[in-house]
Amino acid sequence: MNYSNEKPVRRNRRDFLKYLLTGGIAGLVISVFYPLIAYLKPPKQNEVEVSSVKVGKLSEIEKDSGKIIRFGSKPVILVRTKSGEFRAFSAVCTHLNCTVQFRKDLELLWCACHNGKYDLSGRNISGPPPRPLDPFRVVIKGDEVFVSKLS
Ligand code: FES
Repeated sequence: MNYSNEKPVRRNRRDFLKYLLTGGIAGLVISVFYPLIAYLKPPKQNEVEVSSVKVGKLSEIEKDSGKIIRFGSKPVILVRTKSGEFRAFSAVCTHLNCTVQFRKDLELLWCACHNGKYDLSGRNISGPPPRPLDPFRVVIKGDEVFVSKLS
């Protein structure tokens, strides 16, 4: 019996099967993980540059209230004081980017994440926020209220 002729054939078959199996496993891994990664990775979105947003009618915004509006992709808080004066600030807390809210009972802007507090001028007055909220301009045209960037 001469096995010298059979060994290269078996080896070739083994190599072939090994490559086939490796390729199959690689294909399986790619077919499972590629769609998963593509799903988890957020699609590229072009940031829409917004310079002014219409909030609503002056008569519909109560005194001593606050309202979160979308300014492009960012939240802005519009506050109407007890005296009827309008103020607007970025609603993104300067500590760790939570969204602040108007607290009528405390008469201030409050961040629920770490109990950060801002006065109604946007100044950080208590808690961990390191700086004031970014201000926005409020423009009233007729009965319409608009919020716009400062410059
Ligand atoms: S994120 Fe607002 S106080 Fe921490």
